[in-house]
Amino acid sequence: MSDILERTYEKYLQYVNPGLAQLMKFADFGVEMRAEGMFVYDHQGRAYLDFLGGYGTFALGHRHPKVVEAVKTQLDRMPLSSKVFFSALVADFCEALAKVLPGNLQYTFLCNSGTEAVEGALKIARKFTGKHKFIATVGGYHGKSMGSLSATGREQYRQPFYPLVPGFVHVPFGDVDAVAREMDEDTAGIILEPIQGEGGIFLPGEDYLPKLRALCTERKALLIIDEVQTGLGRTGKMFAVEHWGVQPDIITLAKALGGGVVPSGAFSSTPEIWEKAFGDNPLIHTSTFGGNPLACAAGIATLQVLQEENLPARAAERGEQLVAGLSAVQQQYPDVVTQVRGKGLMVGVEFAIEDVAKLVIGGMTRRGVIAAYTLNNPRVIRFEPPLIVSAEQIDTAVSVFAESVEESVKGLRALGLL
Ligand SMILES: Cc1ncc(COP(=O)(O)O)c(C=O)c1O
Repeated sequence: MSDILERTYEKYLQYVNPGLAQLMKFADFGVEMRAEGMFVYDHQGRAYLDFLGGYGTFALGHRHPKVVEAVKTQLDRMPLSSKVFFSALVADFCEALAKVLPGNLQYTFLCNSGTEAVEGALKIARKFTGKHKFIATVGGYHGKSMGSLSATGREQYRQPFYPLVPGFVHVPFGDVDAVAREMDEDTAGIILEPIQGEGGIFLPGEDYLPKLRALCTERKALLIIDEVQTGLGRTGKMFAVEHWGVQPDIITLAKALGGGVVPSGAFSSTPEIWEKAFGDNPLIHTSTFGGNPLACAAGIATLQVLQEENLPARAAERGEQLVAGLSAVQQQYPDVVTQVRGKGLMVGVEFAIEDVAKLVIGGMTRRGVIAAYTLNNPRVIRFEPPLIVSAEQIDTAVSVFAESVEESVKGLRALGLL
């Protein structure tokens, strides 16, 4: 092991998280040193093509020059807010969001992460409706702080922290009847991702979201759509709900919102909901660092770049290429690779066996392409490259995937394990 890797590993063991240290060492990851565009460079100067994209954070790639410049300029002026003056950056950023958000989602609360956005969304849903129950989906992922974790649908992460926030029930993703059965006069809303990300990249049926919209309207419950991962171009539209023409009551955003440069999160809603949520007390929900000048500068630049470079449309086009390439490999190994599915550049490849997925991820990393499995479903490898990815880079990732599958299958067959 090289010096810096050895030192970092030892400090992870002693000061960070020993289990994580071992996990990362086993996966043979080095130390990240710098990043640019589609590439991350390790301590040996080796370049890795980033097909994980920070779980959706790097929509614009790493260090997009326009975002970096906006943030550097702001850093020299005023990095954090006094919290007493008006901030023109907050005003501009919220206005820019209102212009791209679907329907009448006009008001935005700025925070710092996905889980915070979800916490805020749940709170205003309770305040607006005066009700306390929520319906969420099995396998859904909304974060790991107490409220978000109560919505997250995987027992492994929930069980050690019981009792969670009361009033949450989980129903299968895609099942409108199950939602209708669970909804009662105490239901404040349903919270779900339009495409399940960490659950394993699951797409809804064509009428799922429109039917949920109608049901929520009929029963006076709110439709809370978590676009922390799908939002801002990832699926081939600015927001994934646009694929189904559905208007949420509350939307949550994070990850790509800071342009891959500054952490950022947000939730947005309608004037009617905002009035009831904040009308009697504008300080009912606050955040010291939410809407800080660096995050706002990054966010404004990010929305500009997404539109100027037409990134949602590019994601749709490259996504088709990626799905076609991966599907060709799937057809060669149908017993091992069971399905390829996705929308835009949010693509999942499902394996019959979890260990094969792990071997393939290892093979891809060794060949210089970063990939990872979905957090709630380790049999699915996700491909979420930056939306700036080129057609050639998609071809490279697909061939590396094919080689890694071939190598893993050969190895396991030789050992009689497949
Ligand atoms: C859909 C969704 N919601 C919420 C979160 C939580 O975001 P964060 O990790 O920034 O708290 C994630 C993170 O993966 C996510 O994918």
